[in-house]
Amino acid sequence: MKVAIASDHAGFHLKQHLTAALQAWGVAFEDLGTFDEQSVDYPDYGRKVAEAVAAGQFDRGVLVCGTGLGMAITANKTPGIRAVTAHDVFSARMSRAHNDANVLTMGERVIGPGLAEEVLRVWLDTPFEGGRHQRRVDKIESAGALES
Ligand code: RB5
Repeated sequence: MKVAIASDHAGFHLKQHLTAALQAWGVAFEDLGTFDEQSVDYPDYGRKVAEAVAAGQFDRGVLVCGTGLGMAITANKTPGIRAVTAHDVFSARMSRAHNDANVLTMGERVIGPGLAEEVLRVWLDTPFEGGRHQRRVDKIESAGALES
């Protein structure tokens, strides 16, 4: 599995913590920025990761901003991306098992580094259950999903 990770300035410190965790776990990843605390616009980084995941360059994406919310809104504009904001282990697990989420977003102003690391670990390790959930994910992805 290869992971793309990025943040804005408000998520920079948590992103640094999570890249260290990925390294310690031996998970292949690429850090797409930002690389310091200077103010930047989160959509630039959210789009970068979303497009790289959608293009198949990475299996999963991780985005950190102040709340995790702007990053999720941004990432979900890219077709094929199912981005979720998760600050608890149950949501992280279910977003993979039922929703096949391919981007996880978190907020540095919301969650501490220890729990964020645990949330990321569970999110990376949980497989999609498929079956009836595949049908539902297919409906998300199909243009006519809301008509049926
Ligand atoms: C930056 O101040 C903040 O708005 C951003 O990090 C994020 O929380 C937006 O959703």
